[in-house]
Amino acid sequence: MNVLRFSDLCAQGKAAGQRVFIRADLNVPQDDSGAITEDTRIRASVPCVQMALDAGAAVMVTSHLGRPKEGEFKPEDSLAPVARRLGELLGREVPLVSDWVDGVDVKPGQVVLLENCRLNKGEKKNDEALAKKLAALTDIYVNDAFGTAHRAEATTYGIAQFAKVACAGPLLAAEIDAITKALASPKRPLVAIVAGSKVSTKLTILQSLAKNVDQLIVGGGIANTFMLAAGLKIGKSLAEADLVGEATAVIEAMRARGAAVPIPVDVVTAKNFAADAPATTKAADAVEDDDLILDIGPKTAELLAAQLREAGTIVWNGPVGVFEFDAFAHGTETIARAIADSSAFSIAGGGDTLAAIAKYGIEKQVGYISTGGGAFLEVLEGKQLPAFEILAKRAAG
Ligand code: 3PG
Repeated sequence: MNVLRFSDLCAQGKAAGQRVFIRADLNVPQDDSGAITEDTRIRASVPCVQMALDAGAAVMVTSHLGRPKEGEFKPEDSLAPVARRLGELLGREVPLVSDWVDGVDVKPGQVVLLENCRLNKGEKKNDEALAKKLAALTDIYVNDAFGTAHRAEATTYGIAQFAKVACAGPLLAAEIDAITKALASPKRPLVAIVAGSKVSTKLTILQSLAKNVDQLIVGGGIANTFMLAAGLKIGKSLAEADLVGEATAVIEAMRARGAAVPIPVDVVTAKNFAADAPATTKAADAVEDDDLILDIGPKTAELLAAQLREAGTIVWNGPVGVFEFDAFAHGTETIARAIADSSAFSIAGGGDTLAAIAKYGIEKQVGYISTGGGAFLEVLEGKQLPAFEILAKRAAG
């Protein structure tokens, strides 16, 4: 990908004394008290910030957190917990700056975190006036937010149009290199696991993977829709009955070229959605009208694990059950351990997937862990993401 790289500018001494604006993706999960429950994205963002500091730049970092209403600050939308964690990782205090669009006071050798950029009016719609103001804050704009690279917003796109210099940070560059290289000529069999609550949000990725992968393992609410397509009953489980036609088309497209979408042979059900709900394992064709499917059953998990152990390349996005509840975690744990044991090159991405990887402690056995959720999926789909498109345009002059 022909984009200007921040690492090159630093190596050439071009960042010294410059105002560097880093758009990171520090959108991390938090619990009800606001404590960060998983900090991969913050840790992954540290090298770029450190690189800018080492280069002698005056460093501004921003990110979105969640999807706040623009112009309406609520304490839960604040990046304050992120500033603390970033400070711990950098070993220095990281002041958090609010209302920063009209000017930021930061000197070379300092770093500040600019409050949730989605609080600025016009961020989501990539408002041109906002983007120009953001661009005026900086000498060098660095996009290091791979997780948000599929969004054309003021801090991911507009600012890159108008900043004096616009380049890719080390994380952004590494992500795209790793994912595209791994999928360009994957070792076969190529197995993808795509799980999540809705087919509708992942339909295009399912259709696109259906053309390329050897096994397409579906999980969660997506699997329920595929079970409907296979003629199975799913009780009151989450599913999108109106997308059964699309699910059938994916199954048929795979079958036509000798590939498959494995349909569960057994499932774990409950009568209500709760951590302490009694769990019942049953055959996939024995689901009752008032059942909720909350996990794949042990036979299905073992069949899938066997396929994963034989795979050449594995792409993993999404847990196959409600792994946050112990009674419904077995399927996801079995898949995670099979990926860890497999000699396949594995790539994993997505917030829930990262949480599952952390829960089962398999970080070191996964070939590449992406910080992207939606962005990861769009790269897998073969789409060019807006963040890369504008950086490439700027690099071309
Ligand atoms: C993500 O969590 O996938 C990214 O941070 C993007 O967030 P968004 O879907 O709210 O744009």
